[in-house]
Amino acid sequence: VVVSSSSCLSLSLSLSLSLSQSEGCDGVLGSGLVRDRCGVCGGGDGSCERVTGRFENSSVPLGYHKILDIPPGATAINITERHSSPNYLALRSGTGHSVVNGRWAVDPPGKYEAGGTTFVYSRPRGDEKGETLTAAGPTTTLLQLYIIFHRQNPGIDYEYYIPVKKEKEKVREWDGGSASLREISALAVAVEDPASSSVSSSSSTSVNTDRWTLERPRPRSPGSNRNTRIPPRTDIPLDNQPV
Ligand SMILES: *[C@@H]1O[C@H](CO)[C@@H](O)[C@H](O)[C@H]1NC(C)=O
Ligand SMILES: *[C@@H]1O[C@H](CO)[C@@H](O)[C@H](O)[C@H]1NC(C)=O
Repeated sequence: VVVSSSSCLSLSLSLSLSLSQSEGCDGVLGSGLVRDRCGVCGGGDGSCERVTGRFENSSVPLGYHKILDIPPGATAINITERHSSPNYLALRSGTGHSVVNGRWAVDPPGKYEAGGTTFVYSRPRGDEKGETLTAAGPTTTLLQLYIIFHRQNPGIDYEYYIPVKKEKEKVREWDGGSASLREISALAVAVEDPASSSVSSSSSTSVNTDRWTLERPRPRSPGSNRNTRIPPRTDIPLDNQPV
């Protein structure tokens, strides 16, 4: 088959045309529909509520320090370090497996699958911007956010959205231990917060998160990892990473 250069040209033209017209979340090219912060296609952010907080403690011991439990059901997760610093963000699964930077080693910026969603980890270099971890969600499992603390925490802001608890679910709360995943995720809004950062949420329900934290990573004593080095920030170039 001989393909003429003009058909090549028209092929590449139609390809670039269809690429420039983006597909809506309903799968229709050019529909303009996007997922709202609750993860609902074409929704108006009405079915979830915002959970936000910040971690500003600059006097924690060197190494891993837990900032936040991200409950199942979280959407539009945005974790942003306010300025660049010698510290790193780290993310582990509820069972302690590393997602990003979780094994005393530094992972390159990029995309990381965890908890049923894709996290984008960025570590800007050459400017003042700090690290970010974002994911659209919804998450399907508990995830744990840490800072690998070296010094000078410029502050880490975090936010995510969680489904609004329905009246019916409130009444049935823990009525025999058969809560559905959806109920658990709604209940888990008020996460315990060992990092003395603030979580604000319109929900005041407190929940015992032991069923997840039982499986937390092995306790770390400050001296037990002395020989394991976090490499210096000779950052892998960010620009060749897909966004
Ligand atoms: C910072 O964290 C350390 C260690 O967890 C704790 O002892 C200290 O009270 C915290 N400081 C503030 C201001 O919360
Ligand atoms: C994430 O939060 C930071 C501030 O904390 C904000 O500047 C940034 O625009 C947010 N990103 C997204 C994708 O919402």
